[in-house]
Amino acid sequence: MEMVAKDAGVNLALPGMDVPQWPASSTSANSSKSKSAKPHFLEFFAGSGLVAKGLERYFQPVWANDVSAKKAAVYVANHGLQAFHLGSIADVSGHDLPQATLSWASFPCQDLSLAGLNGGIRAQRSGLVWQWLRAMDEMPQRPPLLVAENVTGLLSSEGGAHYHVLHKALRERGYAVGAVVLDALHWVPQSRQRVFVVAVQEGVHLPAALVDVAPNWMHPPFLVNAVSGLDEFIFWKMPVPAKRKCTLADLMEPGAPLDETAASTRKLELIPEAHRAKLAQQAEMVAPGYRRTRNGRQVLELRFDGVAGCLRTAEGGSSRQIVVFKRGDTYSTRLLTVREAARLMGAPDSYKIPGSYNDGYTAMGDAVAMPVARYLAQHLLAPLGKALHV
Ligand SMILES: C[S@@+](CC[C@H](N)C(=O)[O-])C[C@H]1O[C@@H](n2cnc3c(N)ncnc32)[C@H](O)[C@@H]1O
Repeated sequence: MEMVAKDAGVNLALPGMDVPQWPASSTSANSSKSKSAKPHFLEFFAGSGLVAKGLERYFQPVWANDVSAKKAAVYVANHGLQAFHLGSIADVSGHDLPQATLSWASFPCQDLSLAGLNGGIRAQRSGLVWQWLRAMDEMPQRPPLLVAENVTGLLSSEGGAHYHVLHKALRERGYAVGAVVLDALHWVPQSRQRVFVVAVQEGVHLPAALVDVAPNWMHPPFLVNAVSGLDEFIFWKMPVPAKRKCTLADLMEPGAPLDETAASTRKLELIPEAHRAKLAQQAEMVAPGYRRTRNGRQVLELRFDGVAGCLRTAEGGSSRQIVVFKRGDTYSTRLLTVREAARLMGAPDSYKIPGSYNDGYTAMGDAVAMPVARYLAQHLLAPLGKALHV
């Protein structure tokens, strides 16, 4: 952690690295493009860098920002020599940003999360999306391709009113806009639905392969309801992903320390009768679950479909996911390890996660699942990037 400067608004690099000062000496897209054939991208709310990891084959990150020093440490440890602006987006000036094809913002979800405060898209934390648009407005040229990512509450709460505000703001800035809901479940054994709003500069010819005439697998009923009142909405098209092969049991780390017997017994006692009966039927089982309060009583509800529930962070007020193991007549429990959490986010085992258990778990729990970002980049963002440059 020593490489992370605590002050707001500084650039980071690994020790011993040549630290690029920001603003860089050149902010022209052309000069930086000569180093790489890939289109450039800016990443706001970059967290631990799994979006950058997912996009790496298709886009070159030229600037990233997050306010969390701990997440910045994860980002920098994996993406190396990279202009990372540690500090609040409120202090970022669009005048200082390099030109880029894509600008990505995974803006805070707490005010849109159904489990959170639900203050909405104008509230203190989720309202930081307006800082992103402010920075885009300040740029000499706005990036022609934008992605805003958030939880499904963006679409489902208040009949889509929060989404409408964002959609309108993007339309007013001259973008053609659509949104898709992607569940990480297609790629990794974790149930994690997220909304990706994809906006492209109007007037660009959109290849037919990228635009559907009607809702498809990425447009669940709550999205269709939310966008029904909008005049213009693009139903983006991507191929249906191949069937996922791995289950939660496949990515568990053998030998990770189990809970002590007393702690384990306390957790096992919380399992509802119906779930105990299901467990009893299995010779071997790995069943994850969250503590919940039902009728004023704490219970540990388990899943039996080989899939983990959505990783969440304690910041959102959630308890940690508990894993129950059954082998013959033996039952045991433990939390997920940080590496298991990373695997559930699709991060390769080579992905470095410095810091404590809590730091690592939080970094992964807040992230975008890497294969989801990669799929979106491969099948929609990269082709849109090409369409922009023809
Ligand atoms: C949903 S997470 C995005 C995570 C990231 N995309 C990833 O894959 O790890 C939202 C991020 O916004 C950051 N954030 C919150 N307030 C901020 C602010 N004022 N300025 C910049 N970043 C902020 C948080 O630290 C957090 O990493």
